[in-house]
Amino acid sequence: MRKVILTGDRPTGKLHVGHYAGSLKRRVELQNSGEFDDIFIMIADAQALTDNADNPEKVRQNIIEVALDYLACGLDPEKSTLLIQSQIPELCEMSFYYMNLVTVSRLQRNPTVKAEIQLRNFEASIPVGFFTYPISQAADITAFRATTVPVGEDQMPMLEQTREIVHKFNTVYGETLTMPNILLPDNQACMRLPGIDGKAKMSKSLGNCIYLSDTEEEVRKKIMSMFTDPNHLRVEDPGRVEGNPVFIYLDAFSKPEHFEQFLPDYANLDELKAHYTRGGLGDVKVKKFLNRVMQAELEPIRERRKVWEKRIPEVYEILEQGSKKAQSVAAQTLADMKRAMKINYFEDRELIEKQAASYAEESGNK
Ligand code: TRP
Repeated sequence: MRKVILTGDRPTGKLHVGHYAGSLKRRVELQNSGEFDDIFIMIADAQALTDNADNPEKVRQNIIEVALDYLACGLDPEKSTLLIQSQIPELCEMSFYYMNLVTVSRLQRNPTVKAEIQLRNFEASIPVGFFTYPISQAADITAFRATTVPVGEDQMPMLEQTREIVHKFNTVYGETLTMPNILLPDNQACMRLPGIDGKAKMSKSLGNCIYLSDTEEEVRKKIMSMFTDPNHLRVEDPGRVEGNPVFIYLDAFSKPEHFEQFLPDYANLDELKAHYTRGGLGDVKVKKFLNRVMQAELEPIRERRKVWEKRIPEVYEILEQGSKKAQSVAAQTLADMKRAMKINYFEDRELIEKQAASYAEESGNK
């Protein structure tokens, strides 16, 4: 069976290191593994509009930011198809048919939708488009016959919903759609990187993100101001590494060679953690190390971004070509769906001839 990746992001802001650890880094590794027949990376602007309907300019401006972040991270248009969701009208058509296979109560139970409704104070009046975005996400995934969807843990309910739709469609109309599998980050710490303030999630509105496009100095400042164990007041005090953002980031980003390079007094992260827990290790020292680690990871990304920032028309060209290719794939899947659903009237000569014959017979009998 062909192995196909589909994943994407909403263009509502620049991408941050949480996106990177949770999904982007993996995507690039998967891309370069050569194990996949096709890789589709979607800028989900239509989904972004489901809760930004009155702010199209924000979505429009962030298309290029997300595209630059993708290219900066090492997504390669020669190997991965970069596309813009709204440019694939087939996705709307698919969503329309999937809506018949999902109940309102099932959508209401979707934990991601539930959490987002609360977050946006939508309780009293939920836009229908927002409420149904898991269905449109199922279209995103199935349109490209994705087998593998590398995403963060927060997207798990979306994948479950998609799998249910695929199962239902195939049961009702016959085997047509490909069943996708979620691919979660392999490193536990990458599952959910907290904000620099220690809040569970990085979010633009909380101002607690480290962006992939931040300068070296911005990153340094953010790391040095990071929330740590609030009870670790003096260097001698024992500290807590659990739930401590500085250590969660180290879990996500540090590699053994970083110790050799930047902090040779410790052989590895376990030793550093043990010292911090025991007491006698100051936050500043750990933060300085984290800064070196993060800069090592972010520097090449920053450099590549600068190169692409000088080639904006080319970036749009990449997105346009990618969207075209994606559309032709989606159109084939949609044709298969319509055949399965028996709404392919004009292509079905047999139907037309049979009916013609039956009417001819009837009028012959009159
Ligand atoms: N919901 C995803 C997010 O908020 C974005 C997205 C849209 C997506 N369509 C997708 C992710 C399909 C994976 C597959 O980040």
